[in-house]
Amino acid sequence: MSAIQKGDLLYEGKAKKVFLTSDPDLVIQEFKDSATAFDGTKKDTIASKGIVNNSISCAMFKLLESKGIKTHLVEKLDDRNMLVKRLDIMMVEVIARNIAAGSLVRRLGFTEGQILDPPIVEFFLKDDALHDPLINDQHAVHLKLASMDELNHIRTKAREINEIMKEYFLTLNLKLVDFKLEFGRHKGEILLGDEISPDTCRLWDVETGKKLDKDRFRFDLGDVEGAYQEVLKRVVGKEG
Ligand code: TMP
Ligand code: ASP
Repeated sequence: MSAIQKGDLLYEGKAKKVFLTSDPDLVIQEFKDSATAFDGTKKDTIASKGIVNNSISCAMFKLLESKGIKTHLVEKLDDRNMLVKRLDIMMVEVIARNIAAGSLVRRLGFTEGQILDPPIVEFFLKDDALHDPLINDQHAVHLKLASMDELNHIRTKAREINEIMKEYFLTLNLKLVDFKLEFGRHKGEILLGDEISPDTCRLWDVETGKKLDKDRFRFDLGDVEGAYQEVLKRVVGKEG
């Protein structure tokens, strides 16, 4: 366990707080139980969500690191806190989709459940005030979010990460429908940042099709805490 201590609050987001540490290259992200949807307009608390998402995210970053993907994870400090490398975060949300759901169905008329082979990768502008709109590479370059080389790099990484995560979740009897990634720059490298959890992934049970992710909160499907705990149980079962 690291002796590193939390310093001043650097930033508070909807699901996490980020704290400075005595090391300028490292920050601590603390996972909260607050949940929001629809650009922060729907708000509530999901009991123990922060603990679940911290554990699942650490497990996912470790898995990805073991397969050669560079992430910001340094170590899990305790239940709610993760020590990470400080990133200059790119204001682009990278979405990978294996099965049509969510905004793809709403925006483009895909049928929910339709298989997407090859998977689709999309970029969204990270800006709640503009409702996180879909953007293309040229928009991202002109908005100075990233260079074309960086965009190509993160798109390639998103595809690699998708293959690793899709295979992993299948071993937990979960279909990885889609997920969101955020990347950032650190000492000349691009690292995967943020979190990977039922807040940022759609996960459907292979046998029953039950949604075990934040859609239960978004659409008031009930048993929200149970779904998060179920995903954690399967991840921990795999580790142990
Ligand atoms: P979407 O279908 O609403 O575009 O969402 C695609 C994936 O991205 C889904 O797994 C949920 C995740 N997501 C986030 O992590 N944050 C967000 O703000 C949104 C809108 C989606
Ligand atoms: N993170 C988004 C928000 O709070 C929403 C979502 O995940 O649906 O607005």
